[in-house]
Amino acid sequence: MKKILVTGANGQLGRELQILAAQHPAFEFIFADRSVLPIDDQQAISDFFALHQPAWCINCAAYTAVDKAESDKENAFRINGDAPGWLATACRTADARLIHISTDYVFPGNSATPLKENDTTGPINVYGASKLEGERRALEQYPDGTLIIRTSWVYSEYGNNFVKTMIKLMKARPAINVVADQFGSPTYAADLAAAILHIVDAPRFIPGIFHYSDEGRISWYDFAVAIKGRIESACAVNPIPTSEFPTPATRPSFSLLDKTLIRHTYGLSIPDWQASLDICLFRLLSNDAFTRS
Ligand SMILES: NC(=O)c1ccc[n+]([C@@H]2O[C@H](COP(=O)([O-])OP(=O)(O)OC[C@H]3O[C@@H](n4cnc5c(N)ncnc54)[C@H](OP(=O)(O)O)[C@@H]3O)[C@@H](O)[C@H]2O)c1
Repeated sequence: MKKILVTGANGQLGRELQILAAQHPAFEFIFADRSVLPIDDQQAISDFFALHQPAWCINCAAYTAVDKAESDKENAFRINGDAPGWLATACRTADARLIHISTDYVFPGNSATPLKENDTTGPINVYGASKLEGERRALEQYPDGTLIIRTSWVYSEYGNNFVKTMIKLMKARPAINVVADQFGSPTYAADLAAAILHIVDAPRFIPGIFHYSDEGRISWYDFAVAIKGRIESACAVNPIPTSEFPTPATRPSFSLLDKTLIRHTYGLSIPDWQASLDICLFRLLSNDAFTRS
């Protein structure tokens, strides 16, 4: 039985892996939230690995507060930069494989074509820089045993994300403004979780960096309009340029990831963002999961 450690188990991705775990009786999961395994504590990581000897580690833990990271650089770099290197070291010692999640924010966002794994990186905010550092450290420590998945625009029934924020705002306000000049593709955390378990279950492990998001190319405005249409809200959704929505952290204007490599290497079929949004909204609205934190 493959023993799989999932860190950051109560985040969006961790929660979706918990749901999928029931469909994989051949895997033994250890779901560790921050209280069980704080990944910013190197000693805690090595003690945990010595005790549990996982065969895989899926690192879903991260410092994801993009704007807060601008004024909290040290913490962001410890969690997103140092910790993946520590996890990779622990995996190497335990002869385990590491799946680490990274982000489109490692790129500057000035591309006009979908981003490939070997395109030039160049983060434009602290969060992106800290995630790039995490990639570098993990690959440096354990190149043969580390697989990095860069993803974008993650949402789910859990935690805080764009979809839940939009629903709240559309219920409360007559009109909202949404940025229409940043392009990418959303990723339903349940789809990413399924892709990860597909990789764990694959006959051959091929390490390296891979890109994954759901299929499609939209702006945040397009995403908001699609949400509005599905919840039958009367709220007006107005497109605005990024310049009218200043944030502490600069966002890349182009985040679309090229998924050719992961599709071909692991034989993945990737859902269209609209179909996945339908599933997420159905689950959110039918189970009253909207209030889930
Ligand atoms: N969300 C997005 O739009 C997005 C986009 C691209 C890439 N990603 C990447 O995708 C991955 C999963 O993201 P997500 O959306 O699932 O994130 P999330 O919902 O914010 O979950 C992250 C989890 O990490 C935990 N965590 C934070 N610091 C920790 C520490 N020191 N030790 C242990 N756990 C810690 C958090 O716990 P607490 O709740 O206790 O803080 C939280 O449960 C991350 O690597 C993220 O960088 C996300």
